[in-house]
Amino acid sequence: MSEISKVLLLVGSPKGENSVSNNIASYILEKFNENGVKAEKIFIVKEVRNDEALNELVLQAIDAEILILVSPLYVDSIPAINIKVLEEFYKVKNDSYNKKQSFMTIFNCGFPEPHHNDLAIDMCKKFASDTGLKWMGGVTIGMGPSLEGKSLERFRLAKNLCTGLDMAVDAILKGETVPQEAIVIASKPLMPLTIVKFVMCNFGRFMWGNQMDKSVKGNMFDRPYEL
Ligand SMILES: Cc1cc2nc3c(=O)[nH]c(=O)nc-3n(C[C@H](O)[C@H](O)[C@H](O)COP(=O)(O)O)c2cc1C
Repeated sequence: MSEISKVLLLVGSPKGENSVSNNIASYILEKFNENGVKAEKIFIVKEVRNDEALNELVLQAIDAEILILVSPLYVDSIPAINIKVLEEFYKVKNDSYNKKQSFMTIFNCGFPEPHHNDLAIDMCKKFASDTGLKWMGGVTIGMGPSLEGKSLERFRLAKNLCTGLDMAVDAILKGETVPQEAIVIASKPLMPLTIVKFVMCNFGRFMWGNQMDKSVKGNMFDRPYEL
């Protein structure tokens, strides 16, 4: 039985439950729960609506022994709602709390190359160092939208991701730090990049055109925020 007392997964996608980040977080949550460790998942987007809820979220995060942020990449960076939580966490933790905590992040982006997430991971690493959290590493996932909809283990593309995450969870359960090998395996491209680039260059236009026809074509010139 693991000695880990509390694991908190912060889902940092503004899309909330219908997000790839939630798919990934749910997979990890299940692994912890299967092993009898109390893990909890919180959707940041639901909690940052007012100062009181934000403060409550931060206090819960400060109380966790293992903190895992699962987030999309926005404009080569961390989505604003997550930055807000990290900034508040920094203020509250540095003011009054001294508890030992570990921090891991998982970023997924739209481009096929996982390395687009590197900058966001570096920011989180710096946050960990500034806040006195033990850094456990950052998993980077490219082609994130291909993991939409179903649970993670049902995607053949996500085989390496699941293997790496399993290794990370196993290490955490044993009270060890996440091995670099787990991060490397989980961060492998979902498909060989030459194939993805060939498909995108030759068929991307039709795929995106099709998506646009089905969803936004009729609203493309709307200006909902115009005064
Ligand atoms: C506002 C916005 C900005 C984005 N910026 C990037 C980016 O800089 N690089 C990238 O590869 N993907 C970018 N994406 C794509 C998302 O990272 C991608 O769709 C991801 O899979 C969404 O994950 P989620 O379902 O967990 O929200 C952006 C998406 C949005 C909505």
